[in-house]
Amino acid sequence: MNNIILLGAQWGDEGKGKVVDHLSSQADYVIRFQGGNNAGHSLWVNGKKTVLHLIPSGILHPHTLCLIGEGVVLDTNVLIHEMSELQKAKVFADAKDRIKVSERTHLILPLHKAIDVAREAKAKGTTAHIGTTGRGIGPAYETKALRRGLRVIDLFLDQNTFESKLDGLMEEYAHYFTPSERSDLRAQTLRDAVYWKKVLEPLLVDMTTFLRDGHAQGKKMLFEGAQGVMLDQDHGTYPYVTSSFTTSPSAGTGAGYPKVAREARVLGIAKAYITRVGSGSFPTEMLGRHVEGEVALNEEIRKIGQEFGATTGRPRRIGWQDLVALKYAVEVGGIDELAIMKGDVLSHLGDFKVCVAYERPDGTRYTTFPAIADELGTLKPIYETMKGWSLATPENPEYEAYLKFIEKFVGVPVKFVGYGPERHQMAIR
Ligand code: IMP
Repeated sequence: MNNIILLGAQWGDEGKGKVVDHLSSQADYVIRFQGGNNAGHSLWVNGKKTVLHLIPSGILHPHTLCLIGEGVVLDTNVLIHEMSELQKAKVFADAKDRIKVSERTHLILPLHKAIDVAREAKAKGTTAHIGTTGRGIGPAYETKALRRGLRVIDLFLDQNTFESKLDGLMEEYAHYFTPSERSDLRAQTLRDAVYWKKVLEPLLVDMTTFLRDGHAQGKKMLFEGAQGVMLDQDHGTYPYVTSSFTTSPSAGTGAGYPKVAREARVLGIAKAYITRVGSGSFPTEMLGRHVEGEVALNEEIRKIGQEFGATTGRPRRIGWQDLVALKYAVEVGGIDELAIMKGDVLSHLGDFKVCVAYERPDGTRYTTFPAIADELGTLKPIYETMKGWSLATPENPEYEAYLKFIEKFVGVPVKFVGYGPERHQMAIR
C-alpha cells in the first residue's frame, strides 16, 4: 500500500469510516490530523454498535497504531470514554499499545463547549447560526489562534503555571459567563485535568520524531481526514464550515511530518448523492424547487441510507450529486482518486439527476463553485439525467456508466466503489 490521505469530498458523512476500515487492514499507522469529536462513525464491534468520534475506525485491525496529531482538538473525556468502550469490547487490552497522542494537541475544555452552545443559542434564527455539533470545536480552534489555548503538554506544567494559563484563557471570555458559571467551569477543568494527565501520560509522543522513525522503518501510513473539503475553513462554504482545514495539505501540518503526507496518494470519498447537516444552502438540495417529486425522494433516501448524524443524530439534508462542487473539491482538496459510496441507496429509485452547471437568476450559466455561500440557494442546478439501476454492484452497466460520467467530468479516476452497508461491499475498480 502507498501512504494515503483520505478526505471527505463533500460536506462530510461520505462513508469515510468504511473506507478507512478497509484500507487500514494494510496500514501500520492511522493518523487523525484535524477536527475533533465533531466527526463520528458507527462500527459494529463483536455484535455491539460503537460510535467513535476521535479514535480512527482503523483501531479494529489488531496491528494498527492510531495516532491523534496536533492539528486535532482533543476532548479528553471523549477519548477516555472511547478507550474504555473498546477495552470492554476486547478490541485491545491496553490503550497505550494502540493509541498515541501528540503533546502539542490543543485541549477542548468545558469552557469551549459552553461558548459553542451559548453562541449557537444566541444566533438561532439568524444567518450567524452555523448549526455546529456543539462540541466546542470552533472555540477550541479560536483560542488556539488567539494563543491562549491549553495544550496536552500543559497538563504537565506545575499547578500554578497551569492555573494561571487557564485563568488567562478564561479572562478572554469573561463576558460570556456569570461569576458563578466561571467558577464552576474553572473547578470542573481543574478536576478533569488531574484525571486527563494520568490517562494521557502513557500515550504521549513527540509526533514529528515518532512519524520520522516510523517512516524510516517503512511503516505504512493512512491519514484520516474528518468532515469534508466543502467544510474547510479556507475553501468551503464559509461561514457555514467547520473551524479546521480539511484539504490534503492539512495532513502534513496537522500530523507533524509533512514529508510523508506530501508524497501520499490523496483519496477523496463522495456519496452517489449529497448530504449535509447544519446551516448553509447547497444548490442540489431536494426541496422541490427544481425537480418534481424530489421532496418525497429526499425522505426515502434519508430512510434507506440511514442519513442521520452519527454525532448529533440530526437528520441529514439530501441532494442530488453535484459534479461542479465535486470537481471543485477534487481540485482544491488535491484529490488524486475518488471512492463513490452508497450507490446501493439509489437502487430501485429510477432515473436520477446529476448537476453539471449552475444558472443564476439572471440566466447566466457557469461551472465554477461560487465563493459566496448565501448565493448557493439562489442558483438553479442544471441537471443531466442518469439511468437508474436496480442493483448497484460494480458490474452493473448503469452504475458503471454513472462512474464513468463522474470520472470524465471531474478528471480523476473512481478507484473504489461502495455498494452496500456491509464491510465487504466495497470493490476496487
Ligand atoms: P462544528 O465543526 O461543530 O463547529 O460545526 C460546523 C459545521 O460543520 C456544522 O454545519 C456541522 O454540522 C458540520 N460538521 C462538523 N463535523 C461534521 C461531520 O463530521 N460531518 C458532517 N458535518 C459536520
